Amino acid sequence: MEHTLLIDTDPGVDDALALLMALRAPNARVIGLSIAAGNVGLQHTVANALKLLDVVDQDVPVFAGCAHPLVQPAIDAAYVHGHDGFGDTGYTPSTRQPSAEHAALAILRLSHEYAGELTLVMLGPLTNLALALRLDPNLPKRIKRLLIMGAAVNARGNITPSAEFNVAFDPEAAQVIFSEWPQLELVDWEATLAHPVSRSLFDDWLGQGDPVARFYDAISLQTRAFIRGLHGEDFHSADALAMAAVLAPESVRWAGNFRVDVELAGALYRGATRVDWQHRDTRPANVRIAERIDEVSFHALLRRALGVA
Ligand code: RIB
Ligand code: CA
Repeated sequence: MEHTLLIDTDPGVDDALALLMALRAPNARVIGLSIAAGNVGLQHTVANALKLLDVVDQDVPVFAGCAHPLVQPAIDAAYVHGHDGFGDTGYTPSTRQPSAEHAALAILRLSHEYAGELTLVMLGPLTNLALALRLDPNLPKRIKRLLIMGAAVNARGNITPSAEFNVAFDPEAAQVIFSEWPQLELVDWEATLAHPVSRSLFDDWLGQGDPVARFYDAISLQTRAFIRGLHGEDFHSADALAMAAVLAPESVRWAGNFRVDVELAGALYRGATRVDWQHRDTRPANVRIAERIDEVSFHALLRRALGVA
């Protein structure tokens, strides 16, 4: 199956691994990267996306999106990804330029050009998509599949005790999408933690990989050390797991379809996601939650992303 992908992303080290999976997948065609502020500021996330295209030597249009969340001030995850979002390696910036078209407008235009064909992959905060949906409420009718990396389905968060970063960065945008998009797929933070990759195995792949792997090794050094400090020996990558669900949908075991709402008011729980597990809500259960992704399939996609034979 050929996947035609439009990826909205805030690179970020785990975004980079997911993007490499997509850009190096024989069954995927990436027709655009729309860029969000998130892990770090928009200036860095755009520069990182352009640099990654140099690394894989591919020409994909890049569209800069919103520099700030819809309502609250921006937060960031520089403590995880480095101040520049790519491990502060001081890489030589790309000479490529992003398109002049705003990400939200590009999402709308491409949804017409590829009507019924596009898989929209959201690897960062949902600001650009919420803006696009507000501009054109008919957008979902033209999108074949929407998969989001985000949320923590039992409120085991990362950026706060109860909230996951992509949702917590722009809770209002997330609520717009979760409450209004007719049918979407979700790979959440807790699924990420449930799919660790052993550090020794990942280090072996980095060692056996090609020059792309050497670039990823360098930009991910700080992030891998951070993860090791938090979670012990295993490595995990939220966006890479989500991209595995995109590229190999047959490898996913789904928990089912549920309503998901975002807490917007709580002092303790703002940005947390509440899942209606008992189907108490009368509104359609529109969020298909991933429970398990086949490890063999996931690892094969990771190895290909790193050029491991
Ligand atoms: O919570 C993890 C998510 O937030 C990942 O997409 C990471 O890149 C950050 O965007
Ligand atoms: Ca991300």
